[in-house]
Amino acid sequence: MLHKLLIYHSDSKLYEAIFLKRLPHLCIHSAECPEEAMNFIEEAEIILTWKIPDELLKKAKHLKWFASLGAGNEHLINNPLIPESVTFTKVTVYGEMMAEYVFAYLLYSIRDVKKFSKDQIEKAWTPKLPGRLRNQVLGILGLGWVGKEIAKRAKAFGMDVIGLKRNPAPMENVDQVFGPEDIKKMIPLVDYLIVVLPLTPETIHFLGEKELGLLKEGATLLNIGRGKTIDQKALVKHLKTGKFRAILDVFEEEPLPKESELWNLENVIITPHVSGINIPEEICEEFIRSYKKWVEGKPLTNLVDRRKGY
Ligand code: OXD
Repeated sequence: MLHKLLIYHSDSKLYEAIFLKRLPHLCIHSAECPEEAMNFIEEAEIILTWKIPDELLKKAKHLKWFASLGAGNEHLINNPLIPESVTFTKVTVYGEMMAEYVFAYLLYSIRDVKKFSKDQIEKAWTPKLPGRLRNQVLGILGLGWVGKEIAKRAKAFGMDVIGLKRNPAPMENVDQVFGPEDIKKMIPLVDYLIVVLPLTPETIHFLGEKELGLLKEGATLLNIGRGKTIDQKALVKHLKTGKFRAILDVFEEEPLPKESELWNLENVIITPHVSGINIPEEICEEFIRSYKKWVEGKPLTNLVDRRKGY
């Protein structure tokens, strides 16, 4: 049977080119804007997209599978235009990439990459003792498929790994797993706190004034989950004291407004939500695996859990 797939994205042509080679029996339509999708949306059985206007989605009368191009889907989770009867999947291939980001920036900081780059420009020869990852405590908030990849790499660097998850249970590469109610016990133990929480009603401002205040002197906070899981106002206040540092890829408001104080703080590294970005080949690989299962009526491993909210 010829399934009808609408790809609605600014890179839709790239995805289409891959699918045409790998899934030649699909009827594919790629669109970058509502006008381009308009003629096909009514027939589409599968929609692959990240953000799609409701006005357009409303017209998807034959929708059977909504394949999100995102990992966190808080903007879609309660959308009545994606009812329970529609298969709803997310992307779960960002784990390795996001873990690479974490260690790129941790190593960048402790090996003084910025200082030595500047020294090179000035032809300055000024050695400095490096920091170490070995024997440092890395805490991970959110031990899902991204957290697991971070834990694996942290162990390879000889770190002690602790983590927090909604339903705590022993996990490979994690020395101690805490539940959400133990957050205040966990924070003072860490040298590095990595936040990979999804955004749900339970995780909004999960780290507030009090929790941030429990971070050790000299600790590093790194957020690659969602900006709103940390109270940004409280974060700015704490960062201004210089007690800890932050590496931030996500913010309460994105793009981070030019007037945000975060831009000017010396103990903050800012990146523009790039820890896990869409590489069409990797995304298509996962979609193709899921598509084959979906056609055969087999269970999919990347379903959005509507009850949990991610
Ligand atoms: C995502 C993201 O959730 O890019 O996919 O943040």
